[in-house]
Amino acid sequence: MSDNNIQIFDTTLRDGEQVPGCKLNTKQKLVIAEKLDFLGVNVIEAGFPVSSPGDFKSVSEISKLIKNATVCGLTRAVENDIKVAAEALKYAKTPRIHTGIGTSDSHIKYKFNSTQDKILERAYEAVKYAKTFVEDVEFYAEDAGRTDNAFLARICEAAIKAGATVLNIPDTTGYCLPNEYGAKMKYLMENVKGIEKAILSCHCHNDLGLATANSIEGVINGARQIECTINGIGERAGNTALEEVVMILKQHPYLNLDTSINTRHLYALSQLVSESMGIYTQPNKAIVGANAFAHSSGIHQDGMIKNKNTYEIIDPKDVGVTDSAIVLTARSGRAALAYRAKNVGYDLTKLQLDDVYANFLHFADEKKEIDDNDIHHIIESSKVYQ
Ligand code: KIV
Ligand code: ZN
Repeated sequence: MSDNNIQIFDTTLRDGEQVPGCKLNTKQKLVIAEKLDFLGVNVIEAGFPVSSPGDFKSVSEISKLIKNATVCGLTRAVENDIKVAAEALKYAKTPRIHTGIGTSDSHIKYKFNSTQDKILERAYEAVKYAKTFVEDVEFYAEDAGRTDNAFLARICEAAIKAGATVLNIPDTTGYCLPNEYGAKMKYLMENVKGIEKAILSCHCHNDLGLATANSIEGVINGARQIECTINGIGERAGNTALEEVVMILKQHPYLNLDTSINTRHLYALSQLVSESMGIYTQPNKAIVGANAFAHSSGIHQDGMIKNKNTYEIIDPKDVGVTDSAIVLTARSGRAALAYRAKNVGYDLTKLQLDDVYANFLHFADEKKEIDDNDIHHIIESSKVYQ
């Protein structure tokens, strides 16, 4: 692994699965986990073992199945959680325990009725205990986005002293602006003693639509892991979308940050997660939405037909989509109609096209989208073809 390789930590099966009403059964989780491994993610967070017997079973079965990725289980900074997670992970080739505690003033005061010093002590003890079971322990500082940087640095140092290999800095409430989140990472890189013994991880929520931007700012400023979910699913407005951060890093090579994801499997996995969870993906969703590579206005279609580069920054095949789509609507021009007509077997002359286009506009005003059957009908019923 190079210093510039960003670890992709997938939490579709843990944070993603916290979407209300979308429980997956163990069989569905195993299918998704195997595909995530095939996609090339570095870590699969398989669940929260102490939360239910079903979650325990899923983490245990996924641990047995996965050949390449690290398998991770979530815990609170509670001994029994950690013991149960270690038991669920015992068959994993490379297990990781992900333990932690809330660190912001509101978490310390209202959730724990405690003090910073006592929280720091609990964090240290939790990591130390987790280390008695596994080598790889990730510590999370819940609500780090709203935690004072000086305290965050202190608790990160304590976690490193106890043996943490990864320090997760969650923007749990999706509150941070990208420059703030980036500055937080920079501060930790510069102020945490022993930081060279661990890596920083971005875990961003999307309440303000900034999860992807924040994660990218995080890695630009030194973090080396991104926690994300397929389609960005997760509690409330969701988590960072895996397909977005991976494609941003791929399409911007000058950042000199890469991942080990085989991007050609992204679309298929997006479909699988959406179908298994019964959560449809919005059509304009970046990278994997139905319209991500569809062009409908006349000006764009004309540009696309001349050269795809004019309106596409990603080759759809790179994410597993067969081809871009030229969608025919009343806003389409002659170039798009000629292009689609040719695809279904009609090579129209300029004169024929003028006539067919007039007929097409009548149809398109009535029908939102013109499909291949409509094209046949429009052409065959045009004057020039009678
Ligand atoms: O958003 C969050 O803070 C989390 C932690 C439990 C890692 O999901
Ligand atoms: Zn989260």
